[in-house]
Amino acid sequence: MESFAERVLEWYAEHARDLPWRRPGTDAWAVLVSEVMLQQTPVARVVPAYGAWLERWPTPAALAADSPGEAVRMWGKLGYPRRALRLHECATAIAARHRGAVPSTVDELLALPGVGAYTARAVASFAYGQRHPVVDTNVRRFVTRAVLGLGDAAPPSTTRDHATMEMLLPAEPARAARFGVAAMEVGAVVCTARAPRCRACPVRETCAWRGAGSPRYDGPARPVQRFAGTDRQVRGLLMDVLRGTADPVAAAALDAVWADDVQRARALDGLVADGLVDPLPDGRFALPARRPTLPTG
Ligand code: ADE
Repeated sequence: MESFAERVLEWYAEHARDLPWRRPGTDAWAVLVSEVMLQQTPVARVVPAYGAWLERWPTPAALAADSPGEAVRMWGKLGYPRRALRLHECATAIAARHRGAVPSTVDELLALPGVGAYTARAVASFAYGQRHPVVDTNVRRFVTRAVLGLGDAAPPSTTRDHATMEMLLPAEPARAARFGVAAMEVGAVVCTARAPRCRACPVRETCAWRGAGSPRYDGPARPVQRFAGTDRQVRGLLMDVLRGTADPVAAAALDAVWADDVQRARALDGLVADGLVDPLPDGRFALPARRPTLPTG
């Protein structure tokens, strides 16, 4: 009987989508950029943005030499633009602390701004071929069902998720890394949240969730994210105006995007507080300029 990992790896060899960051020769910077973009944005929207970003900034040093405002402008409509600022900070730290080379250990990666437990392991594993449990929401849902038999992803627990994934990881590092991406792919295209395609699943014979009669998730409901009318929508409209011009914009140009003064002011204050927008002394607003470099302590 083949192991769980063998079945998943065989399935992946045949069914993997050809995504740009999975191609041979993708370097660690490209993997890092892809993972930050993919965290809250669907693959189809990430593909063109990823290509354009790396074309412009093929290395961390190239991005660090540009301003944070340009990173925010280039982020375009991917959403959650604080990610662009964090990626810029991260590139700056890589240039300053690591001579421009994305570090390879999980600890060094975790020490970079904006790099959390998931991203650090994804880069160490996918870019450097190391053996680590890499658990995003798709992997979590897949292994929670297939191994623990629980309906849908139970509330995340990094400790439990890492332990479950650890049990499944092949011993050999390069194979373990490949299994990480393969499990992610099963979670993304087969073991989906609402309509899992169990007939196409490489581990259907041994799946604990199917064995238990495919129980529905019965934990607390997860909040559905509305968009229309939210501050997030208003922030997006304000950012569209700022990204659309090389020059600072007058307050009136921002006033035009949303009629509700209170909500618009709140959204703009939020963008300023997040460092995504700089209020200038003349009353205009701009994307963030480069800060003078602070001495590193
Ligand atoms: N391949 C590697 N990482 C990925 C991710 N986060 N989403 C989709 N495909 C990936």
